[in-house]
Amino acid sequence: MDTIRRHILDLSRRGLLRGSTGLAALAAIGAPVREGLAQPAFRAFPFALGVASGEPAPDGFVIWTRLAPEPLAPDGGMPRRAVPVSWEIAEDEAFARIAASGSAIARPELAHAVHVEVSGLAPGRPYVYRFQAGDAASPTGRARTAPAPGAAPPRIRFAFAGCQHYEHGHFTAWRKIAEEADLDFVFHYGDYIYEYAGRQPGQRGWGPIVRSHLGEETVSLADYRLRYAQYRTDPDLQAAHAAHPFLPSYDDHEVDNNWAGPFSEEDGRGRFPVAVPPEVFALRKAAAFQAWYENMPVRRTALPRGPDITAYRRLDFGTLMRVNVLDTRQFRDDQPCGDGAKPACPEVFRAEAQMLGAAQERWLLDGMARSPARWNILAQQVPLMRRELRDGAISMDKWDAYPAARQRLLDGIAERRTPNPVVLSGDVHVALAATVRRRPEDASSAPVATEFTATSVTSEGDGAEMTRGGEEVLRRNPDIALFHARRGYCVAEATTQRLTTEFVALPFVTREGAPRETAARMVVEAGRAEVVRS
Ligand SMILES: [Fe+2]
Repeated sequence: MDTIRRHILDLSRRGLLRGSTGLAALAAIGAPVREGLAQPAFRAFPFALGVASGEPAPDGFVIWTRLAPEPLAPDGGMPRRAVPVSWEIAEDEAFARIAASGSAIARPELAHAVHVEVSGLAPGRPYVYRFQAGDAASPTGRARTAPAPGAAPPRIRFAFAGCQHYEHGHFTAWRKIAEEADLDFVFHYGDYIYEYAGRQPGQRGWGPIVRSHLGEETVSLADYRLRYAQYRTDPDLQAAHAAHPFLPSYDDHEVDNNWAGPFSEEDGRGRFPVAVPPEVFALRKAAAFQAWYENMPVRRTALPRGPDITAYRRLDFGTLMRVNVLDTRQFRDDQPCGDGAKPACPEVFRAEAQMLGAAQERWLLDGMARSPARWNILAQQVPLMRRELRDGAISMDKWDAYPAARQRLLDGIAERRTPNPVVLSGDVHVALAATVRRRPEDASSAPVATEFTATSVTSEGDGAEMTRGGEEVLRRNPDIALFHARRGYCVAEATTQRLTTEFVALPFVTREGAPRETAARMVVEAGRAEVVRS
């Protein structure tokens, strides 16, 4: 049995139910919740971290909040006891037509986060939701169910973004995403937080300091909770979560820069000769994953068990789109050649290289083989495309340094004749669009997929439209059709004929109020994999 199925089964056995049974379970415990738990009196507004929705299905989605009247205080200013929270979903902004309602428990073990898996709703339509705790009502959030199975929606529109170092700039990109009309979902590719210690203005280090992280480098559960709370107090980020359902994933900085499987960045090689032992790093992963779960609108299947978490999953949007959310961190082998960017050493060409791990790779290809969808999205973290850098170097943290794993994936997709595979990625803090060939190192091999890489929301500050490194990347990699190094995000729109990705750029992030600009529109026609400017 594969990991994800075993995990779901174990959760069910432990009484954590999901899907339609989850709502029934909530209804059943609703009465005791109200009778057995005292309504709290809050010293301040308890919904200071906002609301969120995620994981849209045809019959529902997850709604989320976290009670934290003093978000930056220990325990968010909450008492160490369980607190009842009621919720309701409505068809209209005035909450006159209630579609579902119930009670949940905000528990101190989960930082008083609430995840409700709502089901029983109608497919392919918008809803509003809100929570109540004590006499406080939350802000209203907006969500949308996915189209019915087998339905053929005329289009699916989604945004994707990530890499949001809090110190490096303002979250203007999230404000602009909040204002985007008619998004079916927002995919977050990761680097939602950065783990680094706070720097004060004028202090040396990586990137500009527009505002400062609270605290030291995150190691404990309390550290990670505080870091998420600080990021989530940002009104632009809150607005984006309240406006659209998210598909969250994580990359490295949710735990530790460039971690890989059981290995910390401090892996005993290259720049880090003194290793953190894997059994010790596992404790940090457990803390980091728990805080990630607590703060993301994800299903109970993503509840971590110690250092293990199941975050890869599939979501279908009628017959138009299948989204495979991948995990390229937890099951990969350590970066070869001591990490960094350098020409390939022999270790790069190891035959058994793993990026997804055997179980996830098999699960992905099985889903590709059976896909009913016109567009098959690989929503993941690090660039898959061939990306040769200065002096022929490659980045040891990307798919370029795991070529055997990449070849198995591309061969698997091509052999299964999966229609229109489209790869999403980020992590490199520049916008890229590329045609992916069956053998990425061979310019004469056939195109089999298309890749869009979102730039960072803030990481590395204002950036520039073009850099010397960017000119070199374009010169060395003819399959890369776009390079743009401002901050921003992507908005993609798929129809049966084509998928168009708009690369939204911001002229600055070190000051507030940047206008929304279009860096480029890149398009791929169905049945072809070549990406071109529209
Ligand atoms: Fe990043």
